[in-house]
Amino acid sequence: MRRPKISVIGAGFVGSTCAHWAASKELGDVVLVDINGEAARGKALDLFESSPVEGFDSKVEGGSDYSLTRDSDVVIITAGLPRKPGMSRDDLLSINAKIVRDCATHTAKHSPDAVMIIVSNPLDAMCHVALSASGFPRERVLGMAGVLDSARFRSFIAMELSVSVEDVQAFVFGGHGDTMVPMPRYVSVGGIPLQQLLSQEKIDAIVERTRKGGAEIVNLLKTGSAYYAPSASAIQMAEAIVRNKKRYLPCAVYLTGEYGIKNLFCGVIAKLGSKGLESIPSLELSSDEKAMFNKSAAAVQELVDAIAKLGV
Ligand code: NAI
Ligand code: 2OP
Repeated sequence: MRRPKISVIGAGFVGSTCAHWAASKELGDVVLVDINGEAARGKALDLFESSPVEGFDSKVEGGSDYSLTRDSDVVIITAGLPRKPGMSRDDLLSINAKIVRDCATHTAKHSPDAVMIIVSNPLDAMCHVALSASGFPRERVLGMAGVLDSARFRSFIAMELSVSVEDVQAFVFGGHGDTMVPMPRYVSVGGIPLQQLLSQEKIDAIVERTRKGGAEIVNLLKTGSAYYAPSASAIQMAEAIVRNKKRYLPCAVYLTGEYGIKNLFCGVIAKLGSKGLESIPSLELSSDEKAMFNKSAAAVQELVDAIAKLGV
């Protein structure tokens, strides 16, 4: 039986760690592509050489040639520049738009039936670039940010309460930026609403830390941005797709009227299965939540308009 194939474009910190999680979970065969083909080949070989020790059965290959990715089921695009201290995600706009356009065009040519997961920043705007370059339907172009932002939110809640992360269910809506919308009203800790466990002041502080979660890591690393949690998050989405798990995961999807937003990628809960996006459950938002979501969508729209102006 044919094994699923997961290709990762960009073999930097996020891409190579995606390959690591995917192979160690035996999601399928894994391909790493980078403009630096030797580095991609080297990382792929190194990862494959860990398989006898770790006992996973995944073929791992790497290089610069997209023919390696032929007929992938999932393609994760991580190519592009990461943030440096003092740099906003938006500074990356123009350069990463050209890179993502190139990667999505090659992906569509070699894997016309794949589901693409975009990781490159600024995330929601890069999803627009990938959608237009690939010509794929919206079901097969998804952005990874919500799983990561929600994982940070969940981690901070678990840290504050000294409870297992496993018991914390929480999610974040909106674009992947400072306007993201963590949703405390929907948090449950072992089934108990968060408001019954923490003061509003503590909740507000956790929401703020979540919004700045990416910058917190950038300021500590100094030479790049986060990669363990981002890659684990992208692989959770890939797993939902290749194993047809029908998971409800927060991710960036192209909205066509849901939550009153049209023709824009923005983070919401989506059901993911083998076809990619399967449906978008409609959550009831309070007027405050809706206002914050609209503000976040407006920030994404600004970036999309900026790309259109740049003509990238
Ligand atoms: P990195 O610099 O370690 O890796 C980027 C890789 O892309 C490099 O190996 C580079 O050679 C490659 N690359 C550049 N142009 C390419 C092209 N045209 N084709 C193929 N490969 C190309 O950066 P890192 O840390 O892996 O981050 C990658 C991207 O992911 C950045 O844009 C970063 O901001 C973003 N990111 C997004 C997150 C999210 O939540 N959506 C979270 C973390 C990172
Ligand atoms: C993050 O949130 C840099 O977007 C990246 O870590």
